Amino acid sequence: MSAQLEQKVLETLKTIKDPANGTDIVSAGMVVGLQSKDGHIAFTIDIGDPKRAKDFEPVRKAAEQAVHALDGVLSVTAVLTAERPAQPQQQAPRGNPQAGLPLMPGVKSIVAVSSAKGGVGKSTTSVNIALALAGKGLKVGLLDADIYGPSIPRMLGITGQPVSHDGKRLEPMENHGIKCMSIGFLVEEDTAMIWRGPMVMGALEQLMRDVNWGELDILVVDMPPGTGDIQLTMAQKVPLTGSVIVSTPQDVALLDTRKGLSMFRKVEIPVFGIVENMSYFACPHCGERTDVFSHGGARKTAEAQGADFLGEIPLDIKIRVTSDEGHPIVTQEPDSEHAKAYRDIADKVWFKVMAQMNGNKGPNIVFD
Ligand SMILES: Nc1ncnc2c1ncn2[C@@H]1O[C@H](COP(=O)(O)OP(=O)(O)OP(=O)(O)O)[C@@H](O)[C@H]1O
Ligand SMILES: [Mg+2]
Repeated sequence: MSAQLEQKVLETLKTIKDPANGTDIVSAGMVVGLQSKDGHIAFTIDIGDPKRAKDFEPVRKAAEQAVHALDGVLSVTAVLTAERPAQPQQQAPRGNPQAGLPLMPGVKSIVAVSSAKGGVGKSTTSVNIALALAGKGLKVGLLDADIYGPSIPRMLGITGQPVSHDGKRLEPMENHGIKCMSIGFLVEEDTAMIWRGPMVMGALEQLMRDVNWGELDILVVDMPPGTGDIQLTMAQKVPLTGSVIVSTPQDVALLDTRKGLSMFRKVEIPVFGIVENMSYFACPHCGERTDVFSHGGARKTAEAQGADFLGEIPLDIKIRVTSDEGHPIVTQEPDSEHAKAYRDIADKVWFKVMAQMNGNKGPNIVFD
């Protein structure tokens, strides 16, 4: 990081005070893990006691805004965090075997969104995280790696076929400010269903290499479900910066989630954390909350496995309808609680990406 910019960021953060005692958050030692890359800034504010999270939300926002106003700053991500006791099973230190693989030119980081079990909401999560990242001012791409069941074109509301300007590479499709590529743009819906392993890999490689992605801060990859050979090969072929695992709270999904974790760990790809989707049911009429499945299972699994818990998204008809209609909730209802929950998750993911790009793991992130 440019030491000068780091200094400016810290000076600016000194104007932000802990509401409880008026001490500035830098002198209080609360600013941890400051990261900077190419004008993107990320840091965590360690509030010690998780109960203070609500009081600190305005502080977090004020800190982001103050740093954003600095010259040369393109995006700012501040994440609240609290102390966590040592983990029983920390992730192995990275000697990412993929580090040597050439990334797609211009693509600075790649994050896979995966789940061992199908239908748990990977695509919905991928789309909303991607849109939340774009909302921060990042250049974002979304690659639909679900060759058998592409759903990103529908969720982003994109129809038609990609064109090529140079006869070699396809231009990605675009909507809601993000670039996107999917096999769904290129073949009839049921064609891909009969493909076998090597064809799938070939198609995926084309979607990465033969697409003019241009400059991207982050490419989100919506993975197909499972932890079989295809996923394993994919995890090895795609030069991933890290992965996010989506799970529902049922035991069976959680069992699969452990498989997913171990798959990524086997190939030494950092697992940024677990998202609990369909975490509880939010009644659209009365707002009452029902824990349909045993809510909180993903958090417990994350803790037991030494992975971070990135947040929870409720089961809400609005989330389904908005993505079915091609206007995902983050863009359709940006002020909603759900959009905020996706933005929080996206912030944590981006913080972890920055830490990884800067060659460190960064502090654990403990909140939802
Ligand atoms: N939090 C949620 N609330 C309500 N509906 C949801 C939520 N998350 C996902 N859905 C709906 O559940 C269905 C499955 O979601 P999605 O397609 O994102 O899952 P997936 O894990 O990508 O599935 P697949 O394994 O088939 O790729 C979709 O109809 C989606 O709209
Ligand atoms: Mg999907």
